[in-house]
Amino acid sequence: MTSVAKTLWPLNTPGGHHQIPAIGFGTYTISDRATILKVLDVALGAGYRLIDTAAVYHNEHYIKDALKVLLPKYGLSRKDIFITSKLDPRDHGDEKTVGAAVQRALDNLGTDYLDLFLIHWPGTGRISAKSPDNVKLRNCTWKALMKIHDNGNGPLKNIGVSNYTTKHIKEILADPTNIVPAVNQVEFHPYYQQSAEFHKTCRDAKILLQAYCSMGGSAGKNSLLNDPVVNIIAQKHSTSAAQVLLRWGFQRKYAIIPKSTTPERIRLNIDVDFELDTQDMESINNIKHVEKFAWQPEDVV
Ligand SMILES: NC(=O)c1ccc[n+]([C@@H]2O[C@H](COP(=O)([O-])OP(=O)(O)OC[C@H]3O[C@@H](n4cnc5c(N)ncnc54)[C@H](OP(=O)(O)O)[C@@H]3O)[C@@H](O)[C@H]2O)c1
Repeated sequence: MTSVAKTLWPLNTPGGHHQIPAIGFGTYTISDRATILKVLDVALGAGYRLIDTAAVYHNEHYIKDALKVLLPKYGLSRKDIFITSKLDPRDHGDEKTVGAAVQRALDNLGTDYLDLFLIHWPGTGRISAKSPDNVKLRNCTWKALMKIHDNGNGPLKNIGVSNYTTKHIKEILADPTNIVPAVNQVEFHPYYQQSAEFHKTCRDAKILLQAYCSMGGSAGKNSLLNDPVVNIIAQKHSTSAAQVLLRWGFQRKYAIIPKSTTPERIRLNIDVDFELDTQDMESINNIKHVEKFAWQPEDVV
């Protein structure tokens, strides 16, 4: 069986780095220096090679400082790790605005390139979700990112989107002068499985889906981790509900980015080399309970 820690999913950016680790480490809500150093130490030691951050997580500069210490500790160099960051929703706009935001991410992270840079949100900060200006602004941002990406020659090796619904994705695909986003990072777990149309649109366009909130998010809600179907399957495999949820996302061919500040959980979350059989997968696919843990992009015009 291929180890999840060593699995790379293909990416479809022209001229880009064509692979992304199937599992990465999420850093949302981890915004102090000491905790970032502690969790990245455990994560790199456990085999994570992708770090997921964003301007709005306010931890990019702590990640830079931690990597200065930790890459040599683990005999790694910059090219051995995959760093994703995301555009602050307030920075949608023209090349000047987006270029300055990209430069800030590069400076904060102390690197001259990012493996992946995502539009964090289809809407613009401080503008109503219902405003048609959102359409104009996010399309302007995408054009600016394409220019900065420069067919893989610029400092962004892959560009993509996050929280794009079918409507937002179709908008990008409708313009033949656009390149197709390499990744769409979205909420995806048994309680929020996204629509068949969404899956088909992304699959047909070869957009890799990356799941967040795989274990129910960081707000301390335990409904998903306590789900009876997931827990019966966990017992069957002598594993935990968290590991079943992550393995399910992986077997659905999503990239996954679990977050934890607990060393033992960080190690367990990447230790998911067991197989869910067809019946396990079907049982989880058929969970009917719907619960969304993060923001709702369907509202963004
Ligand atoms: N693009 C977006 O809009 C967006 C939105 C949300 C998240 N994300 C990204 O996706 C990453 C993951 O999402 P998330 O952080 O919201 O949620 P998540 O990974 O589903 O869950 C994190 C929560 O689960 C707990 N946990 C972790 N491992 C566990 C285990 N083995 N057993 C029991 N509980 C466990 C963590 O607690 P402890 O920390 O206390 O261990 C934490 O509270 C984020 O960190 C971020 O990088 C992106």
